Amino acid sequence: MPLIAIIPGDGIGPEVMAQATRLLEHYRDERGLPLDLWHLDLGAERYLRDGTTLPSEVKKRIESEASAVLLGALGDPRVPGNEHARDILFGLRFGLDLYANMRPVKALDDRLVPLKGRTANDVDMMIFRENTEGIYVGVGGQIKKGTPDEIAINEDVNTRKGVERIIRAAFDYAKKHHKKTVHMADKSNAMKHAHELWYRCFFEVAKSYPGIEAKHVYVDALCLYMVQDPRPFEVVVTNNLFGDIVTDLGAALQGGLGMAASANVHYADPKRVAMFEPVHGSAPPLVGKNVANPVASFLTVGMMLAHLGWPEEEKRIESLCARALATGFCTPDVGGSHTTTSVADWILAELTSSSRAG
Ligand code: NAD
Ligand code: IPM
Ligand code: MN
Repeated sequence: MPLIAIIPGDGIGPEVMAQATRLLEHYRDERGLPLDLWHLDLGAERYLRDGTTLPSEVKKRIESEASAVLLGALGDPRVPGNEHARDILFGLRFGLDLYANMRPVKALDDRLVPLKGRTANDVDMMIFRENTEGIYVGVGGQIKKGTPDEIAINEDVNTRKGVERIIRAAFDYAKKHHKKTVHMADKSNAMKHAHELWYRCFFEVAKSYPGIEAKHVYVDALCLYMVQDPRPFEVVVTNNLFGDIVTDLGAALQGGLGMAASANVHYADPKRVAMFEPVHGSAPPLVGKNVANPVASFLTVGMMLAHLGWPEEEKRIESLCARALATGFCTPDVGGSHTTTSVADWILAELTSSSRAG
């Protein structure tokens, strides 16, 4: 039976994860999916209480026994450096070698697309963010800190293996989903060494996928084009930092961070434990108000169920979320006046009646 580790985390994380957990319980109790839910108390609260971030025995059990991790969000103003968040988030992304951070940018309702003259049909792409390298690895240091001569360095680490496997994942995905193009975004015009590797590797890998057009785009121009006309983008692959930034821009095309889901996977070996999380953070100003949009978390559960072998449930969840939006049953960030819990209630009630109808 798939073991799912649930880490609600900080801020609105626990609020949206409480609803995501109800969704999983629905699948377990009413639809009979074999799901074993394992609730983990990790995040700022725990860190402030006893200094724990990601214990090695927890990581080991996740690695050896769990099928998936579902994570809410991490980041708390009471921990100014957010060291607990890095330990947990990067401990799982890097530690489990989940090199592909797949972030769909898909609009579920015309009303949510902020671009003049564009509809939801115009916004549908999958962004592959490299998830184990780049500027995130923490190679670097500070010298003469606090003096006028201080030096601060973070190195952008790119390995042939790391670059190649994420590019290959993007092409494999494009092939599997009958997409015509893969765009790769870098800054090879400025970052001569590291991104020359991306550029060269991209066109080398592309040779193994003759039916798919490989297109290079500088990441700054990508941001421009995504706003001007997102239609040409089907699959986009980029590095860790650019992927982080571009997917917030992508979230804006979907209606905001309350709508954006993600999967962290070892793409070449889908049997390995994967981690699923909404793209958004802990949204401190929303905490305790019952206004956080639960849709990103619901869509994230959908991605997780698809990964575990129930792809039709991802479609079902997505279409229910789209219906909730179309009928105005949504939170203030997407133009509604409903609460986190009432939106989740509506979606769960629809799901229950659709289960009864078969
Ligand atoms: P954020 O994603 O928390 O918020 C950005 C904006 O999106 C805010 O306007 C917020 O109100 C809105 N928003 C986010 N989620 C929403 C939701 N579900 N419903 C409605 N509106 C939503 O980003 P931030 O403010 O830059 O960061 C806050 C904290 O979260 C920081 O500590 C940051 O490091 C952390 N963070 C964590 C993750 C993660 O755990 N994966 C991701 C991003 C940011
Ligand atoms: C995200 C977040 C994280 C990232 C932060 C919290 C370190 O912005 O998941 O998009 O940069 O990866
Ligand atoms: Mn981000």
